[in-house]
Amino acid sequence: MSLPSSATLRTSFVGRDAELASLRSLILRPATRLVTVTGVGGVGKTRLVNELHSHLDGQFAGGIWFVPVAHVREPEQVLAAVATRVGIRDLDADETIRRVVERFDGQPSLLMLDNLEQVIECGTIIARLLHAAPALTILATSRQPLHLLGEVEFPVRPLPVKASADSEPPAETLFIARARESSYRFVVTDDNRKAIASITQRLGGLPLAIELAASWVKVLPPQRLLENLDRQLDVLVRGRRDLPERQQTMRSAIAWSYSRHLPNQSGHCFGSSASLRGLLRSVMSSALPPCR
Ligand SMILES: Nc1ncnc2c1ncn2[C@@H]1O[C@H](COP(=O)(O)OP(=O)(O)O)[C@@H](O)[C@H]1O
Ligand SMILES: [Mg+2]
Repeated sequence: MSLPSSATLRTSFVGRDAELASLRSLILRPATRLVTVTGVGGVGKTRLVNELHSHLDGQFAGGIWFVPVAHVREPEQVLAAVATRVGIRDLDADETIRRVVERFDGQPSLLMLDNLEQVIECGTIIARLLHAAPALTILATSRQPLHLLGEVEFPVRPLPVKASADSEPPAETLFIARARESSYRFVVTDDNRKAIASITQRLGGLPLAIELAASWVKVLPPQRLLENLDRQLDVLVRGRRDLPERQQTMRSAIAWSYSRHLPNQSGHCFGSSASLRGLLRSVMSSALPPCR
């Protein structure tokens, strides 16, 4: 069995119980062949399917294969990435597809294709695989649906920012968990809890933005973080009151974190400025309208 190799698995997972249960039952339905988990960049699509993996123990006797395709630009390379993942190498295209189909035929297998939005035109390959290997189910993540026959879209929304019953809102739980990972001295108090609630609301519950903001508690307490976020919001959305609130707040949070982090502070809050830049670029391009 092939395990996901995402670095995100090293951090705690928050909420999403209902999504995991629904996605699991959808995937295990005999009629399901293709599910696409959709949502804006940073909403938690990759993390959700990684997490699903541990809820599928004993299912898919033919294996669960996680194939990240974020680096892939050409549709044909999707097949090559899948082939490499299952140990098939150096064959011509026809032979590769024959061997991949052979690999997935027989026992039920689940193929997870992560970040397919870069190669949305790879539909033909996916349709061909599904047609030729009836025991195969594909779970894709993509900002947009693939628009293939039989595809079931599974939209993912940001984490809830409002408490339900007695429980803490998952967006706040995520902020607190990442703040603790960022600074061992971080503690939740009555005062900073209010600021944390406001920060997660301003960030629209978007996990990536929450993680970026929480990493700042090392240098700024949540109350100061909130003030900075608010100030940035004013600068960034001046003249753009027509933007939906979610987009205004996300833009400000992300741009604020970006401007404070770069340049010359690489490694301060994140592993490297290059990976931060990549993350931010992906969020900015997917979730936000163009900057003025
Ligand atoms: N439910 C969650 N619990 C904990 N961390 C999460 C959760 N959802 C997302 N994250 C974190 O937020 C960041 C963005 O999530 P990711 O799955 O990469 O988003 P997407 O694939 O939609 O772009 C990652 O660092 C991920 O680990
Ligand atoms: Mg992703």
